[in-house]
Amino acid sequence: MVKYEFPENFWWGSAASGPQTEGVYPGDGKGESLWDYWYEAEPEKFFNQVGPDKASRVYRKYPEDIQLMKATGHNSFRTSIQWSRLIPNGTGAVNPEAVTFYNNLIDEMIANGIEPFMNLYHFDIPMALQREGGWVNRKTVDAYVAFAKTCFELFGDRVKKWFTHNEPIVPVEAGYLYQFHYPMEINLRHAVQVGFHEMLASAKAIEAYHEMKLDGEIGIILNLTPSYPRDAANPADVKAAAIADAFFNRSFLDPSVKGTFPTELVEILKEIDHLPEYEADDLKTIAENTVDLLGINYYQPRRIKAKETPIDSTNGPMPEDYFDNYEMPGRKMNIYRGWEIYEKGIYDILTNVRENYGNIRCFISENGMGVEGEERFINDAGEIEDDYRIEFISEHLKYVHQAIAEGSNVQGYHMWTCMDNWSWTNAYKNRYGFISVNLDKEGERTIKKSGHWFKKMTDANGFND
Ligand code: NOJ
Repeated sequence: MVKYEFPENFWWGSAASGPQTEGVYPGDGKGESLWDYWYEAEPEKFFNQVGPDKASRVYRKYPEDIQLMKATGHNSFRTSIQWSRLIPNGTGAVNPEAVTFYNNLIDEMIANGIEPFMNLYHFDIPMALQREGGWVNRKTVDAYVAFAKTCFELFGDRVKKWFTHNEPIVPVEAGYLYQFHYPMEINLRHAVQVGFHEMLASAKAIEAYHEMKLDGEIGIILNLTPSYPRDAANPADVKAAAIADAFFNRSFLDPSVKGTFPTELVEILKEIDHLPEYEADDLKTIAENTVDLLGINYYQPRRIKAKETPIDSTNGPMPEDYFDNYEMPGRKMNIYRGWEIYEKGIYDILTNVRENYGNIRCFISENGMGVEGEERFINDAGEIEDDYRIEFISEHLKYVHQAIAEGSNVQGYHMWTCMDNWSWTNAYKNRYGFISVNLDKEGERTIKKSGHWFKKMTDANGFND
């Protein structure tokens, strides 16, 4: 029997986001976000036509939900402040009902021994700003910094862990390369500009936070997806994997932690004449305002095979044109969703961060397993028996444990997610939570087997196997 014990004061909990959980729109002064707009305009794009208004109603149910967090062993929980709830038009007047809600949420968490981790941006730009070009427009950077400062002023006396963005590469790739999110463009020039502006906004918010000298710290949450060559003996695949790494991981990891952009990425963008527009001081601002801590989201790796056509300015500048994202036959798959399960990926990321990023203080800010049709695992007592999720978490935790034993500075583990929540265009298709949400019964919550397991495990600060 092996004992996996974690460091003292380890952050155990889960993560979610405002737009995926709050619900209540229109209502209580909330303004329109990109998601509210898009759902109204094209409901058929959303699984079963279920929109963000059907999010799990944490806005109304948070006292009950915080008790459930306690019952499932949380000492910390991450969510996000919805920009369009706090500042309905993106700039200007603050919505007093939102201030009351976030104050209540934060206070209730603290009163129950759950430390609030607050993120400022989770794919949810106010529509008023999107109408003016969103993150392509530099004005969004200023609007975001004003929003961030408002959050620090209103809640920074109690919130000690702030994050500037969650997965900032997602608006870039999903909105401007792959057509998964509104505005569904295929436009590398816009994609690069969006990424650069998000990064600049992050650095400026960090600068503002540090200038305010509040008692707390600020970081960023990145989905780091290890890029493995499909054939390690093929130099073309190895090169393509390095390019994917530069585009999808290092584009935010390097500037956030080291203050610089990867040379390889800059060289490629220069070669194809796609560098972003920026002002004289921007690179200095980014260089001087790196993160205090790093949140790492990990789900699955990329398996990269080079494409036949080499990168040049004529074959289309989209990263997806340079390589295929293969799933390798024979790999372990999440058969309920179709994603590869590769537990060692989490260890490879942590080792990379330790060896190449100054062993910055970090935590696993998301890791989890989406399951389609999870109702089929409900037992007679009405509880979902999700043994696959328990296995998923514990197998990943073993690798986290190993990385810590080798010196990685890992402070916690947050699972995605607490209650099953609304997942963008997939709505409620894939369930991820420790707690199920019954949409037919006004969002009735029931703790799954994994939630009870997590409570026991976190009470013991580890597990045996
Ligand atoms: C990452 C994102 O942060 C979150 O919004 C999403 O729902 C989960 N992954 C699951 O795909």
